Amino acid sequence: MQGAQQLMKVFVTRRIPQEGVKILKQAGMCNLSVWDSDEPVPRAELLNGVSGAHGLVCLLSDRIDAEVLDAAGPNLKVISTMSVGFDHLSIDEIKKRGIRVGYTPDVLTDATAELTVALLLATARRLPEGVNEVKSGGWSTWKPLWLCGYGLSGSTVGVIGLGRIGLAIAKRLMPFGVKKLLYTGRAAKPEAKEVEGEFVPLDALVAQSDFVVVSCSLTPDTQGQCDKAFFSKMKKTAVFINTSRGAVVNQEDLYDALSSGTIAAAGLDVTTPEPLPTDHPLLTLNNCVILPHIGSATYATRGIMAELTANNLLAGLTGAAMPTELKI
Ligand code: NDP
Ligand code: DGY
Repeated sequence: MQGAQQLMKVFVTRRIPQEGVKILKQAGMCNLSVWDSDEPVPRAELLNGVSGAHGLVCLLSDRIDAEVLDAAGPNLKVISTMSVGFDHLSIDEIKKRGIRVGYTPDVLTDATAELTVALLLATARRLPEGVNEVKSGGWSTWKPLWLCGYGLSGSTVGVIGLGRIGLAIAKRLMPFGVKKLLYTGRAAKPEAKEVEGEFVPLDALVAQSDFVVVSCSLTPDTQGQCDKAFFSKMKKTAVFINTSRGAVVNQEDLYDALSSGTIAAAGLDVTTPEPLPTDHPLLTLNNCVILPHIGSATYATRGIMAELTANNLLAGLTGAAMPTELKI
């Protein structure tokens, strides 16, 4: 064990799974300072806590920008985020300062793809509405025209962003009898063969799909791309699913599309802001299913994410190769 003066200061912005904390403690090189709460660290506490830190462990809800980096000062060598998404990090500012970044790709792909399929089925087959009817006494008898939805069999599915998670979603959906799998992205992908995916322009995907699934990263190009024009091109019977980031969607336009019957239904695991205020208009709609950003939320996955986050951090502190470093 090194003397306290040789320990490197590490600020952790939230209570994280023990698997990660254990690794950081056992390394014996960190002077750990943890915002020990399930709630986000207030901005002032973040700026204070990061001061002089060599390492920062953060979450997707922490905006890591020039202000935070300036507050940290020149010691900061590594930022390790417990997420695969990195849109909360000001990459240009981080790069300018020569700080390395660790993130958590792959380990959450299965959990997130599984949740996306669950959300798609719940939305298309109206499960929350059905559960509510049973609880509220609305279930009077078996009715031929009641609570009908849309099935995957024989359908066309369009995946926006056939990355790690997009491909894993497609693989899980194909066995439901999907007839055609379309996808968009910056370029066609060889791995799309695994799902017989057809690379098409966005407009074609939107117009032809019975299910539109968004699994791209949030970038300046994808921000707000699901807007009025986008929804107006969808089939009236189509279901829209987003498990990427809320800001990919213009929520006012989505509300209009859902309430006017321009599209059939939407399932969202991500919103803007998070949490979505309980008086938000989208929450008044029966044809909109909203989850609280739980894509990767299995016990096992969150434990592995924490481990990877800790190992990335330690590698960044010692100048070693990180298990999963973001190339910036
Ligand atoms: P990947 O980097 O593997 O995939 C991202 C995909 O987005 C790539 O295929 C990329 O395409 C695509 N993309 C980028 N720009 C565009 C564009 N303009 N139009 C269409 N597609 C585009 O990341 P992951 O699959 O691992 O994760 C994807 C995202 O999912 C994360 O960034 C995160 O925001 C979100 N996520 C949400 C979770 C949740 O809990 N709901 C859990 C985990 C992740 P190309 O390869 O052509 O560049
Ligand atoms: C991510 O990792 O980007 C998710 O949104 C949460 O797991």
